[in-house]
Amino acid sequence: MSSIRILPDRVANQIAAGEVVERPAAVVKELGENSIDAGATQVEVEHRNGGKAYMRVEDNGKGMNPDEALLCLERHATSKIREADDLLLVTSFGFLVVALLSISSVIRFTLLSLSACEVAVR
Ligand SMILES: Nc1ncnc2c1ncn2[C@@H]1O[C@H](COP(=O)(O)OP(=O)(O)O)[C@@H](O)[C@H]1O
Ligand SMILES: [Mg+2]
Repeated sequence: MSSIRILPDRVANQIAAGEVVERPAAVVKELGENSIDAGATQVEVEHRNGGKAYMRVEDNGKGMNPDEALLCLERHATSKIREADDLLLVTSFGFLVVALLSISSVIRFTLLSLSACEVAVR
């Protein structure tokens, strides 16, 4: 067996993404739940080839400002809790903390917010 090494964040994120991105529908679920949590009353989903070739989830929720749009792709980024105790009070749908990071680690990902403009293409 080779010696133990610490994997780079990029590789660790890609491995962890397997828990979130089992199939394209799982991505729609995470993004759609985030939309509802953001107060959206409309969520539009467009896809090609069942989401394998292309997927777009657009909502009319509160969106993100430019700082938030960059921050939401970092590890452990969430606006939904501050402390472990807050877990007991979570009422949001899409509470996974790593959803956007995981999704953006394994697919070509563009985030657009009307207030943020295009901030991240991975
Ligand atoms: N569609 C969206 N509209 C506004 N903010 C969003 C949207 N999707 C994600 N966010 C913000 O990004 C954060 C991180 O999202 P995510 O990685 O799914 O983790 P979680 O939903 O568990 O907080 C959310 O807490 C929220 O603040
Ligand atoms: Mg989420």
